[in-house]
Amino acid sequence: MCGIVAAVAQRNIVSILVEGLKRLEYRGYDSCGVAVHQHGGVRRARSTSRVAELDTQIQEDHVEGFTGIAHTRWATHGVPAVHNAHPHISPSLDDARVALVHNGIIENHEELRAELRAKGYVFESQTDTEVIAHLVDYYYDNDLFIAVKQAVLRLKGAYAIAVFCRDEPHRIIGAREGSPLVMGVGEQGGENFLASDAMALAGVTNQIVYLEDKDVVDLQIGKYWVESRVGDGFARVDRPVRTVYAHSGAAELGPYRHFMQKEIFEQPRAIGDTLQGIESITPELFGDDAYKIFKDIDSVLILACGTSYYAGCTAKYWLESIAKINTQVEIASEYRYRDSVPNPKTLVVTISQSGETADTIAALKHARSLGMEYTLTICNVSTSAMVRECKLAYITRAGVEIGVASTKAFTTQLAALFLLTLSIAQVHNRLTDEQETEYLRSMRHLPVALQAVLALEPQVIAWAQDFTRKHHALFLGRGMHYPIALEGALKLKEISYIHAEAYPAGELKHGPLALVDDQMPVVTIAPNDTLVDKLKSNMQEVRARGGELYVFADADSKIESQEGVHVIRMPEHYGVLSPILHVVPLQLLAYHTACACGTDVDKPRNLAKSVTVE
Ligand code: F6R
Repeated sequence: MCGIVAAVAQRNIVSILVEGLKRLEYRGYDSCGVAVHQHGGVRRARSTSRVAELDTQIQEDHVEGFTGIAHTRWATHGVPAVHNAHPHISPSLDDARVALVHNGIIENHEELRAELRAKGYVFESQTDTEVIAHLVDYYYDNDLFIAVKQAVLRLKGAYAIAVFCRDEPHRIIGAREGSPLVMGVGEQGGENFLASDAMALAGVTNQIVYLEDKDVVDLQIGKYWVESRVGDGFARVDRPVRTVYAHSGAAELGPYRHFMQKEIFEQPRAIGDTLQGIESITPELFGDDAYKIFKDIDSVLILACGTSYYAGCTAKYWLESIAKINTQVEIASEYRYRDSVPNPKTLVVTISQSGETADTIAALKHARSLGMEYTLTICNVSTSAMVRECKLAYITRAGVEIGVASTKAFTTQLAALFLLTLSIAQVHNRLTDEQETEYLRSMRHLPVALQAVLALEPQVIAWAQDFTRKHHALFLGRGMHYPIALEGALKLKEISYIHAEAYPAGELKHGPLALVDDQMPVVTIAPNDTLVDKLKSNMQEVRARGGELYVFADADSKIESQEGVHVIRMPEHYGVLSPILHVVPLQLLAYHTACACGTDVDKPRNLAKSVTVE
């Protein structure tokens, strides 16, 4: 999703801006741009190609400057095109005074656009962002900080912005509400930076200030100043400087074709790291206050989006069957807008790879506004907004996930959610010592079990060829493998663009069976659990309609290959942790189908990695 980098320094900062954009590239974007203060004016370069192409353009055109802003755009308002790419300038191309980049969505942009048009401003783009640039210019009266403060008072929606002005060459103003923005305190010559993520500044500074909602920051050489909105005014605030060792993001592909493949194969290591050092189950794994909180709760509410939501759906089976605690799982973007019945004794759990997903953060805040103060996040980024917003946290150690389609983040989330289940069960006296020992043994063995599953790749590659000729696919699972079927279908559709749907197998005859014919591949997750016989009947229903079955069966589930039934045998049945193993061949199936279809696997069309807008 959109990325921001900005710098004010006493040296040419263009390479820092470009390098920052490259570090944010993996999040997905469709255009990019840079603007700098040069020769007493605003100099801009924009492209609908990759950042590398923008870099070439910048070098050829000798774009240089000590103060500048840069952006990768993921289109929301207006098609991906150069005229919509940021930075936007105001008042006009011939007389550029203000340059601005923006992440987020301005909800009242139409009303503001009409107002600014009436004042004589001419718009060159369809973006909501250009409205902010003109608004800042309109309020500008020799002090950019004051102009930005006046402008943001008029905005409704979410924004992180970085702005500079032709008439104040050594100054950048930033502001945020609902979209992340950090400040980097430079290590040489009093330079200072802004970015949508500390990762963009890796290699430049590790002294990071996390700006909060409603903050406006004034960056100059050797000093900065933060104010926060209070009603219609602003008051000075101090935000702590933290040392953040953000990963550079410049991960190496090694022997793999794509980051997604690499990340699938990293899962044994990622799970091992996530569970490292855990000798016994204790609530303190989640934070100092966890015992007190877990003791007081009578239910769990999980809030998340996409793949992280499916991790939550899987955990519901564990939490209700092992910890015997009532658990509700909600899609964050739905929960935040619906009327619900709050319960202060509920543990609100957010699950997020990035920790910056706008809908999940908003749902968390909504839950808190309803009086639910027990909050916990399972997150892959320790410095993220989600971790800062929650009382308790468990940081998964998947490592940076570059592929847009989440893989290792999902399985590490499941591992963390299983630990949470055991911890709550223990506090509520629902976990015996023998069970604890047995579950811990199974968890420790997961990396080895995952290696054995990954060895199935050649068999999955053979199946993938069949899928490239299909336009639709059905995924079936039962019980705790139903969310795994959902995740398998999501993976296939998002990277291969083949339409895929998942159903609990028992639902088939209540409607979707009508879709089944000899053109419909039906992927079936068939662990050898208590539902396997029921599942076999559902498979018969498919075969009777000519549907072709692709079954991931456990070693002992007695499902044999025959005409129209293809079987890949999983190495071992893994009891309640089986979802963690069964999702892996589905990731591989999606990956190899997408490769065979020739799609951009790591950056599928229309999608972004970190969804920081609503
Ligand atoms: C799918 C995928 C998305 C994310 C979702 C939530 O492969 O990656 O569905 O899971 O956008 O993102 P996080 O986990 O960062 O909150």
